[in-house]
Amino acid sequence: MIAILDKYPLAPHVYYMLLEAPLIAAKAQAGQFVIVRAAEEGERIPLTIADYDRTRGTVVLVFQETGKTTRLLASLHQGGTILDLLGPQGNPTEIERFGNTVVIGGGIGVAPIFPLARALREKGNTVTAIVGFRSREYVFWEEKMAQVSNRLVMTTNDGSYGTKGFVTDALKGLLDSGETIDRVFAIGPALMMKAVAEATKEKNIKTIVSLNSLMVCGMGMCGACRVTVEGVTRFTCMDGPDFDAHQVDFDVLIKRLETYTCEECGE
Ligand code: FES
Repeated sequence: MIAILDKYPLAPHVYYMLLEAPLIAAKAQAGQFVIVRAAEEGERIPLTIADYDRTRGTVVLVFQETGKTTRLLASLHQGGTILDLLGPQGNPTEIERFGNTVVIGGGIGVAPIFPLARALREKGNTVTAIVGFRSREYVFWEEKMAQVSNRLVMTTNDGSYGTKGFVTDALKGLLDSGETIDRVFAIGPALMMKAVAEATKEKNIKTIVSLNSLMVCGMGMCGACRVTVEGVTRFTCMDGPDFDAHQVDFDVLIKRLETYTCEECGE
């Protein structure tokens, strides 16, 4: 049993959960995920580690209530427990001194880019963070992102906060400014990552995307996470979750995600 030390809503249907998990916190690195089983009747779901504190032995998960399993998780509270937590799983994001980096997070994808931006900064990179939400009420972690980035660009689709438009609009503005960008990272909805990949491909800027939202078992057993990369089938949970965005077949990915969503929600 894993103790829930804190839990509260960050935005509509989006929750912060702080868990006591010293063994996972000791090893966690940016880009990795955990497999969560909330209770006996719950499915196993992968969630990216949104933050960790090695000293306190805690990990933070941020999740969106989208289906049966995440509804069950959302019904748990501080002082309660979740059944089990497996991890850290997946390959850590490759962090080197790249130079000028851009990290892009859309919606719930803003949570996993936080440890990524922090790791990039710690390695001596310049970090521009572009984060996007549907509207003002969905905005979270602005302060946290500001702490780990040299420049933070906030966008909302409806313009109710920050710059009006999509993260890709802000990215294109940056690309068109002529600024030299050495590496781009994007985490968020598949359509967003596809648009980021198309924008950076034109400029030949290496771009990494995290495809972990696709996973079910997270251990190489179910095959649900298979993606096509460079024309070859790869398992997101074992071979990823990070992949070169310019090699990912996003159309196949988007089709598979639609199937997964229906299975998850039972509708
Ligand atoms: S999530 Fe089941 S094989 Fe990867």
